[in-house]
Amino acid sequence: MKRIAVLTSGGDSPGMNAAIRAVVRKAMFHNIEVFGVYQGYQGLINDEIKKLELGTVGDTIQRGGTFLYSARCPEFKERDVRKVGIDNLRKRGIEGLVVIGGDGSYRGAQRISEECKEIQTIGIPGTIDNDINGTDFTIGFDTALNTIIESVDKIRDTASSHARTFIIEVMGRDCGDLALWSGLSVGAESIIIPERQKDIQEIAEKIQQGIDRGKKHSIIIVAEGCMSGEECAQELTKYINVDARISVLGHIQRGGSPTGADRVLASRMGGHAVELLLNGETAKGVGIKNNQLTATSFDEIFKTSHDNIDKHMYELTDELSI
Ligand code: F6P
Repeated sequence: MKRIAVLTSGGDSPGMNAAIRAVVRKAMFHNIEVFGVYQGYQGLINDEIKKLELGTVGDTIQRGGTFLYSARCPEFKERDVRKVGIDNLRKRGIEGLVVIGGDGSYRGAQRISEECKEIQTIGIPGTIDNDINGTDFTIGFDTALNTIIESVDKIRDTASSHARTFIIEVMGRDCGDLALWSGLSVGAESIIIPERQKDIQEIAEKIQQGIDRGKKHSIIIVAEGCMSGEECAQELTKYINVDARISVLGHIQRGGSPTGADRVLASRMGGHAVELLLNGETAKGVGIKNNQLTATSFDEIFKTSHDNIDKHMYELTDELSI
């Protein structure tokens, strides 16, 4: 293998730069040339592809976002459009493509490997949502989790001063991991996630019992994939008289310098992606399971819908917030 390319696609996540850096440096260590595709699949179609040097990735490991830029590109679902992108790789003699992104980005890579046998594809899970099969953690999840924790800790200060109930809406698309992990970390009174049915009346009763016991404030974390903070407040007021405040954390969760855990994960996964390409592997996503690097075929990754929720952890959050 002499030439590979790397792109970031879908919603950005902290640690993507560290993953690109690892791909570039590991490949160069093996005397492989690396090309950066700018703007994700959109840039692949528009031929925004440039050779990357060792120095291009200097001073990037600590930066959030992605210096290759990212985009959502629904047109890439069309075969004719994909052909334009594939031809842009072919004309440069690129034999391997590393795609850093989420589920949708992996699907694009799978199509490329099906339609062009000369180009191997490997996916690296880069999303704050932690919603990809074949890995315990995605790059960016830990940083987003810590951003939520920091924000909720601050909200708790004012919640406590005013004896208020706060509903905090967090990202995660259809996955409740950010809500569950942050809820446990901040000692939330209730967590609402899409993977588990939760009775709002029960939550309301729990809040009321707390107030009756002299509890001054409560924090409810709601995953966006389940309902909005606004909907949650409306539902709650059907059962209790509470003047809840709502905080939608929004895109602040996607930014910031990656945590140590994300830098390490991104570096390990980036290095592993290049090793897989060198071993002739294709159409696989890198993962981490029980702290061991893994590779799972895209077919396997897409086979089942994602549900990573740790039952014991979920139950524990309830037990600890009585
Ligand atoms: O997939 C990452 C994510 O931040 C989700 O948590 C969220 O639902 C979505 O992207 C928001 O997308 P956009 O930035 O396109 O509004």
